[in-house]
Amino acid sequence: MLAVAVLAAGKGTRMKSDLPKVLQPLAGATLVERVLASCEQLQPQRRLLIVGHQAERVEQSLAHHPGLEFVLQQPQNGTGHAVQQLLEPLNGFHGDLLVLNGDVPLLRPDTLARLLSQHRSSGAAVTLLTARLADPTGYGRVFASDDGRVSAIVEHRDCSAEQRRNTLINAGIYCFNWEGLAEVLPRLSSDNDQGELYLTDTVAMLSPAMHLEVAVADEINGINDRLQLAQCEAVLQQRLREHWMREGVTFVDPASCTLSEGSRFGRDVVIEPQCHFRGTSTIGSGSRIGPGCLIEDSSVGERCQVVHAVLRQATVAADCSVGPFSQLRPGAKVAAGCHVGNFVEVKNSTLAEGVKVNHLSYIGDADLGAAVNVGAGTITANYDGVRKHRTVIGAGSKTGANSVLVAPITLGNNVTVGAGSTLTRDVPSGALALGRARQLVKENWPGPV
Ligand code: UD1
Ligand code: CA
Repeated sequence: MLAVAVLAAGKGTRMKSDLPKVLQPLAGATLVERVLASCEQLQPQRRLLIVGHQAERVEQSLAHHPGLEFVLQQPQNGTGHAVQQLLEPLNGFHGDLLVLNGDVPLLRPDTLARLLSQHRSSGAAVTLLTARLADPTGYGRVFASDDGRVSAIVEHRDCSAEQRRNTLINAGIYCFNWEGLAEVLPRLSSDNDQGELYLTDTVAMLSPAMHLEVAVADEINGINDRLQLAQCEAVLQQRLREHWMREGVTFVDPASCTLSEGSRFGRDVVIEPQCHFRGTSTIGSGSRIGPGCLIEDSSVGERCQVVHAVLRQATVAADCSVGPFSQLRPGAKVAAGCHVGNFVEVKNSTLAEGVKVNHLSYIGDADLGAAVNVGAGTITANYDGVRKHRTVIGAGSKTGANSVLVAPITLGNNVTVGAGSTLTRDVPSGALALGRARQLVKENWPGPV
């Protein structure tokens, strides 16, 4: 039997934030979501989350997460005190307890699987993850013999100058035999610099205590302040970009781009500098994105070009060009072969195949038929001050420059709208519509006197 406990009750004083530390986001997911995800592969029978500081907020943020047991730690008197709160809910439990610090978000599931299997095959009372860090400042130091047995963990602030030279650190990830741990937990004392109960002190009371050293130290990075948050973000971003490069994506300037885990890219996608992908976004094969794009919860089809554009909850089919300087807002649905050009905003509208909106337009709450050509500066006036109304433009129609279509309005197929028109009434198919003052020319005008 396996139970997992995540320590998430601390305030995170060093973050200097109103948000509890474990709710800080990293590449679109909170620290605690990442920690929980890292142990899913082990299929634990129980998942316990120790909450305390802003407990309700932490619980709410995980409401969608099935099978979690929340355990309240009040007040928060250290990591040992946190695990003492499990004595009641885990009363009668037989098996192993995996303890994860809620602020160690980059762990690889495979590493946890190795920890568990080493722990089980060695018969140790506790096995903990360690790493050798060039700069171990702030971490607890692990004192171990060559055969992997651990004698003690001493917190950085409690170390002597000599002990601080030890570069083997405690990652804050432990696998305990629960019955053994339950016996020693009540004996913890707060005789240390912080006056707290340290979980790390149980290690000297358990025998044998073993450790598993990980080679890539990145994955055990703990987050105590914003500097470490930024470092972890950089590690995650690097992992994501490397993954997609291996899948056939070209990044012209990788370090200038950020990705979310929910983003997907086809082969031969080229990503120019300064592009950012958020939420669940998909880019089809052969498309070229950037420079300078923000794409969130949107999909772009194959062989598209998107330059200096912002897309949010928008879909763009194959062979389209978008930008430079276009904004596709929620509900923009662009069919294949369309052109959306500079200073064009599209919202809650459908553009059928081959539509061109090349310059300076607002298309909101509109349905444009196939091959419609929207002239420069055309605006759909969709808002009467109270409600939004739709504009429909039939296939093959053309609007002249600087047209205003006051919705609700329907233009039939193959309509031509004269430049500078303001239209307030429907236009049948095949018609020319003009809605502007007729030009007057007076010859031999004397001019200003
Ligand atoms: C802890 C370890 C240290 C290790 C480091 C790894 C102890 C005493 N020290 O130090 O050896 O090198 O992690 O990152 O365990 N928490 C609670 N309740 C509390 C206090 C903390 O739930 O009363 C939670 C925090 O929310 C956090 C985790 O425990 O998720 C670790 O606490 P933190 O204060 O960050 O410990 P460190 O000083 O980093
Ligand atoms: Ca920490």
